[in-house]
Amino acid sequence: AHTRWATHGVPNEANAHPHIAGRVAIVHNGIIENHARLRAELQAGGHVFTSDTDTEVMAALIDRHLDQGLDLREAVLATVRELEGAYAIAVLSRDAPGRVVGARRGAPLLVGLGIGENFLGSDAQALIQVTHRMLYLDEGDVVEITRDSVQVCGLDGAPAARAVHESELSTDAVERGEYRHYMQKEIFEQPHAVASTLEARLGPHGVLPNTFGVDSDALLQATRGLHIIACGTSYHAGLVAKYWIEEFARLPVSVEVASEYRYRETVVPEGTLFVAISQSGETADTLAALRESRRRGYLGTLVICNSPESSLVREADLKLMTRAGPEIGVASTKAFTTQLAGLALLSLELARRHGLDPDRYIALCAELQHLPRAIEDALQLEPAIIELAGEFIQRQHALFLGRGAQYPVALEGALKLKEISYIHAEAYPAGELKHGPLALVDEKMPV
Ligand code: M6R
Repeated sequence: AHTRWATHGVPNEANAHPHIAGRVAIVHNGIIENHARLRAELQAGGHVFTSDTDTEVMAALIDRHLDQGLDLREAVLATVRELEGAYAIAVLSRDAPGRVVGARRGAPLLVGLGIGENFLGSDAQALIQVTHRMLYLDEGDVVEITRDSVQVCGLDGAPAARAVHESELSTDAVERGEYRHYMQKEIFEQPHAVASTLEARLGPHGVLPNTFGVDSDALLQATRGLHIIACGTSYHAGLVAKYWIEEFARLPVSVEVASEYRYRETVVPEGTLFVAISQSGETADTLAALRESRRRGYLGTLVICNSPESSLVREADLKLMTRAGPEIGVASTKAFTTQLAGLALLSLELARRHGLDPDRYIALCAELQHLPRAIEDALQLEPAIIELAGEFIQRQHALFLGRGAQYPVALEGALKLKEISYIHAEAYPAGELKHGPLALVDEKMPV
């Protein structure tokens, strides 16, 4: 089974997965960028499409390759070589019962290894209830699975061996328990998640050695500035860190959305550390930005991430794992607060090395130690928040305002409201209200 937001055409049944062409059925995560040209070629050859999706184009291409006498795996290989863009796919053919062919590039895909059964999934969390043994595919890999076998090859068709990992996820971590939905569960997991992120990294005298890895010492000492890139919520966490690092460590920080970074040229002052932030470690724009950063002359790369086996973590020089546990709700909650905890550690570590007054350093560390308790107190406000939400439920718009590090928090608040309630929301630095948006404020506008 596969669910996916419609990236091509409206969200209706025809555009929902799986997509079928001839004898082939396919599910797909990702976006094919040259689909319009491929669709036109197939239409010129007489193919009739039933959806608006890029995915159906893949199904039709695979079916055409099967017509030419290729077997399913070869047909998938021939098809993915024609694609530009990102895909993780699983493909069935009516003529190849008992076989599933998968392929990935720019989107995650792994094989869950069972006994007399094998699985494909985008994430270990999706498979943890059926197996703990996972085989992660590399960029460009194609895999064929049956009940009893798994065969991987690279994009060139040559057989490839991929290591098997025993996942440490617990099945409890992906169960909803007493909560009404995962987002509520994850909101209430924040004190524990933040405490785990700080555990064995922050002591009474400050950030502990090797928090950023055994090789971090020289890099952090040589850091003269930071360039942070990320998307969505993770980008907002990066914006908060800019305020902290500039105030405490007095190092210049620029923060950029990953999809902008990769499509423009940047100026990289000497001694700049490249920092990528991501919950999943698989966000295509963030991963592409990390790869692009290699040719732009940074001091090194650091990834702050929640998924230990992800592509970003595998490819960065330094890593700091947030220990939020699986975040199943689409709207980030505990991932955001654990990213902030990780970024607070980074800010303090840089501040210590770059001249922050030792008494202030110790005081800030003590405040950070207290954070899980403070979050617990904030969570006690739930009944009052539910009551307030009742007052806002009929509103169409909302403005969030904040100054300093609270400005990115306002951005994150507006994002949450949009995603979860479909109420239009915008965020501004508090001082900007009078420079235009005030025009929207009337008795119906919550601010
Ligand atoms: O996994 P990542 O942190 O790289 O994901 C980036 C964004 O897609 C993500 O933060 C998104 O904005 C949030 N889930 C929204 O709540």
